[in-house]
Amino acid sequence: MIDPNLKFPMTHITRLCFLKNIIKNPNIIIGDYTYYDDPENVENFNQNVLYHFDFIGDKLIIGKFCQIATGVKFIMNGANHAMNGFSTFPFCAFGEDWKDVPLTPGFKGDTVIGNDVWIGYDALIMPGIKIGNGAIIASRSVVTKDVEPYSIVGGNPAQVIRKRFDDKTIKKLLKLGWWDWPFEKISQHAKQIAVGDQSLIL
Ligand SMILES: CC(C)(COP(=O)(O)OP(=O)(O)OC[C@H]1O[C@@H](n2cnc3c(N)ncnc32)[C@H](O)[C@@H]1OP(=O)(O)O)[C@@H](O)C(=O)NCCC(=O)NCCS
Repeated sequence: MIDPNLKFPMTHITRLCFLKNIIKNPNIIIGDYTYYDDPENVENFNQNVLYHFDFIGDKLIIGKFCQIATGVKFIMNGANHAMNGFSTFPFCAFGEDWKDVPLTPGFKGDTVIGNDVWIGYDALIMPGIKIGNGAIIASRSVVTKDVEPYSIVGGNPAQVIRKRFDDKTIKKLLKLGWWDWPFEKISQHAKQIAVGDQSLIL
């Protein structure tokens, strides 16, 4: 069995980790087999979740079997200054004379990434974004809107490049939900999953 609790699942290779095993923040929740690759240091991922403050409490939730490339960054809700007043300046953060000035930044919710999502090199995911199962995020994308399952998006702001499959196939794949199968069943069908064997979704 390939143990999802291993930090470095590939012998002698430390640039790729099963991500859940390096996470230090309880507000970051990562599924089994999701990996992060970083030739410099996989621990960089923790710094790449930006403006993620405990007092806000928003979560970054990533499903199983996602593939996350070097430099992928998530901007969380703590990045947002209040925009409804006459100034975005966070007066109360400096205390003293300004300690009672209200701070009401917008809150866009948790960031939720589905299962089997491939996020390309240096992509940036904005606060509260939801990315569906099987989606692909092109390298250097800036994702500002939710991404449908099995669609490929790219650019700044990220736009749909194409759907990976027709709607009927996507529906069947979502119903199949192979990522939730027991390990033995996934192993048994891994080749079919990898090559897109139609008999799997008949
Ligand atoms: C998104 C991606 C998967 C598309 O692959 P593809 O379909 O073979 O790409 P193509 O070169 O045929 O391009 C298809 C279209 O997407 C556009 N596109 C490709 N990469 C893009 C990017 N990073 N940003 C914006 N648009 C992109 C192309 O310009 C092209 O547009 P067009 O149809 O208007 O001409 C690929 O470009 C990519 O970004 N892969 C991620 C690689 C990576 O970061 N790997 C990290 C190690 S795991």
